[in-house]
Amino acid sequence: MIDPMDVVLVGATGAVGQEMLRVLEQRAFPVRRLRVVASPKSAGGAVTFRGEALTLVAPSPQVFAGAAVALFSAGSSIAREWGPVAAAAGCLVVDNSSAFRMDERYPLVVPEVNGHRIPARGGGIVANPNCSTIQMLMALKPLHDRWGLEHVVVSTYQAISGKGARAVDEFERQQRAVLAGETPPVSILPGVLAGNLLADWTHEPSGFSEEELKIVAESKKILELAGLRISPTCVRVPVRNAHSQSVWARFARPVSRDEAITTLRAAPGVVVDDRIGPGQHPQPREVSGSDDVAVGRVRRDLDDPQALSLWVVGDNLRKGAALNAVQIAERAFGVTPSSRA
Ligand SMILES: NC(=O)c1ccc[n+]([C@@H]2O[C@H](COP(=O)([O-])OP(=O)(O)OC[C@H]3O[C@@H](n4cnc5c(N)ncnc54)[C@H](OP(=O)(O)O)[C@@H]3O)[C@@H](O)[C@H]2O)c1
Repeated sequence: MIDPMDVVLVGATGAVGQEMLRVLEQRAFPVRRLRVVASPKSAGGAVTFRGEALTLVAPSPQVFAGAAVALFSAGSSIAREWGPVAAAAGCLVVDNSSAFRMDERYPLVVPEVNGHRIPARGGGIVANPNCSTIQMLMALKPLHDRWGLEHVVVSTYQAISGKGARAVDEFERQQRAVLAGETPPVSILPGVLAGNLLADWTHEPSGFSEEELKIVAESKKILELAGLRISPTCVRVPVRNAHSQSVWARFARPVSRDEAITTLRAAPGVVVDDRIGPGQHPQPREVSGSDDVAVGRVRRDLDDPQALSLWVVGDNLRKGAALNAVQIAERAFGVTPSSRA
């Protein structure tokens, strides 16, 4: 039995922060006192945890004093400023932003994939990977262990909740405007997503988006496969929550569809949907709200006996962010989750 501990949640009002509150409660994480942090403009407001209204505060060194865990989901600049302060105060910091992901000093962790990198209890920073990276590796790691992963081509179909609470709000206003025959508002997003597709991430001079490059770099670091070839294309789709991915993966040895399905069925945190037929595949509407990553449409490549095609759907706010972060804290402190979901 683990003694309850003080926990700090930075970014408690955001899309990930709100999910974090639900996950901590549903898994009965042993929280003695939860301190909730948001920007100075939200200070004095409240969020609800375990039926109790908790008052929001702005970040300060005092907030982290005596806490065992600090869960960050407030973006990179806040993580860079306050993550080291929290770690110095003795907190285990689990950060959802990209601030520490590619820094070799910090582990980048999906517990089911490289859980051995989670430090034992005590201060330090652990980076939570990008949501797209997490769900893709949940599907590919068991297959990599079986056949040796060499090359991945992935196209993503990413939900708007991945862009944060204000983007969700703008998308919903766009949808209402489109239905009313009015001009959709565009201020947070770089264009209209309602009834449309967008690559809304910052782009590099190479033509790749920031999101695509995160998938490449993070996958290589987590799998410790510097030579892995990955070709990503990321697209935002007019879906509220849960990302989908079309994944083509080539391995060092010949693969079989049946063995791939058996292997994925045995993987923790993965559910296999082997139905075949129109509409018979994992869908964001069904997967939204679930902890498991759903893999369907498992096909051996028609021309390449060493390649598989997969359809992978995961809740970007849960396994792609909040759940993965809480699982890291659970492992670090030896907490066995109980289900109050
Ligand atoms: N959404 C996803 O699916 C997802 C998945 C994986 C990782 N992430 C990452 O997680 C982080 C949060 O994403 P999100 O989607 O939850 O964003 P979000 O909805 O925009 O929420 C941002 C949070 O940060 C807080 N914040 C902003 N400025 C702050 C400040 N100066 N001090 C303290 N808190 C401040 C906000 O508080 P206010 O309400 O007061 O502004 C809010 O609670 C980002 O780094 C994102 O890349 C997101």
